[in-house]
Amino acid sequence: MFGEGSASAEIFFVGEAPGETEDATGRPFVGRAGQKLDEMIHAMGVRRDECYIANVLKSRPLDNRTPLPAEVELCGPYLVEQILIIRPKVLVSLGGPASKLLLKVDTGITKLRGIWTEWVPPSESGAAPIPVMPTFHPAYLLRNYTPQTRREVWSDLKAVMQRISELKSATKK
Ligand code: URA
Repeated sequence: MFGEGSASAEIFFVGEAPGETEDATGRPFVGRAGQKLDEMIHAMGVRRDECYIANVLKSRPLDNRTPLPAEVELCGPYLVEQILIIRPKVLVSLGGPASKLLLKVDTGITKLRGIWTEWVPPSESGAAPIPVMPTFHPAYLLRNYTPQTRREVWSDLKAVMQRISELKSATKK
């Protein structure tokens, strides 16, 4: 399950791995977590088909377990190529595995979320670093739907929209 969205997307969401519904349909984020992601995207005032959505893993881990480091290593280069083709203005990493892979850290998502970092492309690509906003995975939000987690995710998403509007006004000048 590769990914989907606009080839000129400004926002690129990176999830963890396809779940059962994604595996069956060949589309990312179409199950329950996908509905939550759709709500998040809608709240940002953009359309899902204007964004790009992909996962770290391209196939479903057995029993929906967290991806193994060896699986992340195998699939990682595909994600790198996807990002280099789309060249979004901003990457939003959803949850721990995506954030750890893009930022090359081993820190938990609770510490990473809400803080801008950069994804540094392979030097041979010649591409510029891309800002990354790590936030909670929508499936985590479904399990922990508290005023605090909702406030935190909303604050992360607002920061993304703010950054995009700053980047746009900087290129107009
Ligand atoms: N969770 C993910 O991380 N990705 C999907 O595509 C669906 C659920």
